[in-house]
Amino acid sequence: MKKLFIKTYGCQMNVYDSARIADLLTPLGYAAADAPDGADIVVLNTCHIREKAAEKVYSELGRLRRLKEEKAEQGGRMLIAVAGCVAQAEGEEITRRQNIVDIVVGPQALHRIPEMIARVERREGRALETEFVPDEKFDSLPAVRAEGPAAFLTVQEGCDKFCTFCVVPYTRGAEFSRPVAQIEAEARHLAALGVREITLLGQNVNAYCGAARDGNSWSLARLLNRLAEIDGLDRLRYTTSHPRDMSRDLIEAHRDLEKLMPYLHLPVQSGSDRVLEAMNRRHTRDGYLHLVEKIRTARSVIALSSDFIVGFPGESDADFEQTMALVREVKYAQAFSFKYSPRPGTPAAAARKQVPEQVKSDRLQALQSLLAEQQAGFAKSCEGLSMPVLFEKQGRKAGQAVGRSPYLQPVHVDDAEHLIGEIHDVTIARALTNSLGGMLVAARPKAVAAA
Ligand code: 5AD
Ligand code: SF4
Repeated sequence: MKKLFIKTYGCQMNVYDSARIADLLTPLGYAAADAPDGADIVVLNTCHIREKAAEKVYSELGRLRRLKEEKAEQGGRMLIAVAGCVAQAEGEEITRRQNIVDIVVGPQALHRIPEMIARVERREGRALETEFVPDEKFDSLPAVRAEGPAAFLTVQEGCDKFCTFCVVPYTRGAEFSRPVAQIEAEARHLAALGVREITLLGQNVNAYCGAARDGNSWSLARLLNRLAEIDGLDRLRYTTSHPRDMSRDLIEAHRDLEKLMPYLHLPVQSGSDRVLEAMNRRHTRDGYLHLVEKIRTARSVIALSSDFIVGFPGESDADFEQTMALVREVKYAQAFSFKYSPRPGTPAAAARKQVPEQVKSDRLQALQSLLAEQQAGFAKSCEGLSMPVLFEKQGRKAGQAVGRSPYLQPVHVDDAEHLIGEIHDVTIARALTNSLGGMLVAARPKAVAAA
């Protein structure tokens, strides 16, 4: 067996893509290794969303140079591939700056990796693929494998929204939805492998609009309804959503579809209309609050999550206060928050009124402590309740298992190891910082037949 090492950066979609890369390479005789030393191929599956993303990749490549040289001294060859969004954004610049790189492959061309490896092995020089042909990508990937009872399934890629801070529309390309039948087949396959929960992934997942066999384009809600018919598949989730695409049928799915978990990641980014406008978010503060109200009317207990950016160019103290006030009003179960950082090539990066670093740090701290308080409050409100938990893996203690609540919180339960892969009711005994602890609800005794 040849050794394959994949380092994954960034979002869940990259985790999904890395698993697909491993699936593609397994039939070619590669087995996954957990360190790059001595590997025959190293893949860096990169993400461009965080600050200095490209620089981090270049320094990782600097470290790999020594390993590649060591392998060559022993008469072997280590191929180095850069995949994902940094590959897409940097293109040939990568091989120019780091000549140890053999393959540069954008997220839409992953399925070409085996061919690219063959070309490099035939000493035809380096290989570069950064074209956007998403339908070809999904058609050519091998069947997925399941690792555990919860899986991701990419249904949509790319983004047409062009928020002024974000690189995704440039690196992942235009919105593309996979056809319904292809997704359904993948979901049935996963269910047959024992998967009980699927999270549908997309940069703009609720803009999903996929071709169906009936000749129509199906919405995400319709897709969810279809997937809910699959036996053995008990839980559905989706991420990430845009407020603009939170359509009525999707809200109704939260009311009607029992398998759709009561959790929604719905990024608002800012609570100030002025900032939302400058971000080109295409929604207002009131529009978002109204949406939250409709969602909560449809499903009264739902864990809401969001992304926030503080210190966007031109953000004043009053704008930031609006964000804090919005958070107080919505009450999130959990959230992610970031300091704005300019991405080359995006409109906001060129804005003149950049916010000083110290101001950004102060605002982030204030926002994060409010969000942490809300998260703890939500967890506390779960104490004493019983809820179904999907057990995914062993815990740290012997016999302990860790699963997920319907609200996506990790739940630790003693003496539950035998239930891994199953859903079982748990009484929540205590809320910890980032997880819950609980006990199995004893199986109800069967009704005794009348004598
Ligand atoms: N600066 C800070 N945060 C950003 N995000 C995207 N681009 C930037 C940026 N330039 C955040 C947004 C998005 C999340 C995935 O990352 O909040 O929703
Ligand atoms: Fe980026 Fe905005 Fe598209 Fe989300 S909706 S991926 S933040 S451009």
